[in-house]
Amino acid sequence: MSSQLSPIDKAKFVAAKKATDYVQSGMKVGLGTGSTAAWLVRCLGEMVQDQGLRIKGVPTSSRTAQLARDVGIDVISLDEAKWLDVSIDGADEYDASLNLIKGGGGALLQEKIVATASDQMVIIADISKKVEALGAFPLPVEVIPFGWQTSKTLIEETLIGLDVLGHTTSLRMNGEAPFVTDEGNHILDLHLNRIGNARQLSLVLNQIPGVVENGLFIDICDAVVIGYGDGRVEVTDITKGTNEQSAYDFLDEDNLFSDVMD
Ligand code: 5RP
Repeated sequence: MSSQLSPIDKAKFVAAKKATDYVQSGMKVGLGTGSTAAWLVRCLGEMVQDQGLRIKGVPTSSRTAQLARDVGIDVISLDEAKWLDVSIDGADEYDASLNLIKGGGGALLQEKIVATASDQMVIIADISKKVEALGAFPLPVEVIPFGWQTSKTLIEETLIGLDVLGHTTSLRMNGEAPFVTDEGNHILDLHLNRIGNARQLSLVLNQIPGVVENGLFIDICDAVVIGYGDGRVEVTDITKGTNEQSAYDFLDEDNLFSDVMD
């Protein structure tokens, strides 16, 4: 029940719920990864079951694929879909231009491919994700396992010549072992503190051999839906040039998927 949700979960829920306004029957929809995106998948699943919504979902991770199937969404691959009407995903940071850092959940590669193959990309988040400048959240960079330590050194040397405040990197771990992405790669987290020129950094990182992709999403996102713990929700759509606010009424009888543990 809604009273069992923390304010942060309420914020994520209302953002996800509002973002379903971007989805209509017949659409092919990119499904993001992470705790906020999990709320979205649950909301869409409910609409499929109760309102007859007909969509094809393209998940951005094995986790999301499993959840989408569990809630009754028709899951297809990106190659089957070819192009998507909209992708909806979470973010680790977003700035005023809706440039993003993503990959906190390790799914940045599929997330970036899916978002780029969509007419619209919509981010759902709580207000804590908004920043003046990107970089306080460590920037995830996906590298192939072969020679990852050499890639790490090359990245650190490259950072010295760039407009960033920090230069250290760390291999993401999953317990005692390196974290492994759905593509079988590793993640290096770059502790930059502040990124002066995100576009340049993204281009330079992707030139380094061994780097598959980085978590900077530049000029990809069209709109952000921000949820608040009291039910307020704000939609900023930079493509339409609009900013709209509304509020969600939490009713005691709402079934807010209290089993969601992602
Ligand atoms: C996964 C991501 C997530 O979207 C990002 O980490 C935000 O996650 P959450 O909604 O749990 O805060 O990029 O790779």
